[in-house]
Amino acid sequence: MNIHIFQNQQELNEAGAGIITSLVQTQPKAVLGLATGGTPVGIYEELVKAYNKGRVSFKSVTTFNLDEYVGLPEDHPESYHAYMKQHLFAHIDLPLNQALIPNGNAADLEEECELYNQRLEEAKQIDLQILGLGHNGHIGFNEPDHSLISGTHRVELKSETREANARYFNSINEVPSHALTMGVGTILKAKTILLIVRGADKAEIVHRALTGPITTEIPATLLQTHPHLVVLMDAEAGRLFE
Ligand code: GLP
Repeated sequence: MNIHIFQNQQELNEAGAGIITSLVQTQPKAVLGLATGGTPVGIYEELVKAYNKGRVSFKSVTTFNLDEYVGLPEDHPESYHAYMKQHLFAHIDLPLNQALIPNGNAADLEEECELYNQRLEEAKQIDLQILGLGHNGHIGFNEPDHSLISGTHRVELKSETREANARYFNSINEVPSHALTMGVGTILKAKTILLIVRGADKAEIVHRALTGPITTEIPATLLQTHPHLVVLMDAEAGRLFE
């Protein structure tokens, strides 16, 4: 495990984007696993800057998003489809048919999960998986549980997750109750995992995730088993590592 703690957000954003652009420069057909939430926004901004400066092209890249809400229209501003368009896809040359996101509005959600798993298998391996961290230790939308599911599946969101994400909606009642998420098996199969954590409110959970006992009750603890885990944290989140 490779942990980097940054004194300012800009340095963290540049380091995160630098890892992604270097990979795509050397491997133009790279497969990227993408995350949403507040955490990666600044990194996507830096990626767009790098693209605008002609330093990187995404035209042969394939991307797989971790998750999507169930039943939220794709054009709802808080859908992860809308998020990805707003923060990244609308600004770079990634062909949209190479940008995969689970369809939370599919008529048959189980079939949709199988289809997503198939597409992941066809891609063979995610070269770099970007991850944020939920306050309860979730990764993607893999919530704490007695056991975890390996592949893409439908999940009921925990109340603490709906509360945390309510800040992006008008009220908690608007936060969907379910989501589709890539499973932990798929996440852990990625060649490299890039975990990004920001803010004092994540200091305890990231410390438990990376140094505590491995348990499905804190899904992020499973990341300790990954051979190529890179962690980028701001000083507030990394406070307990000093
Ligand atoms: C969300 C997403 C996760 C994200 C996490 C943290 O619910 N499903 O992929 O990493 O929660 O979100 P944020 O970055 O906004 O704190």
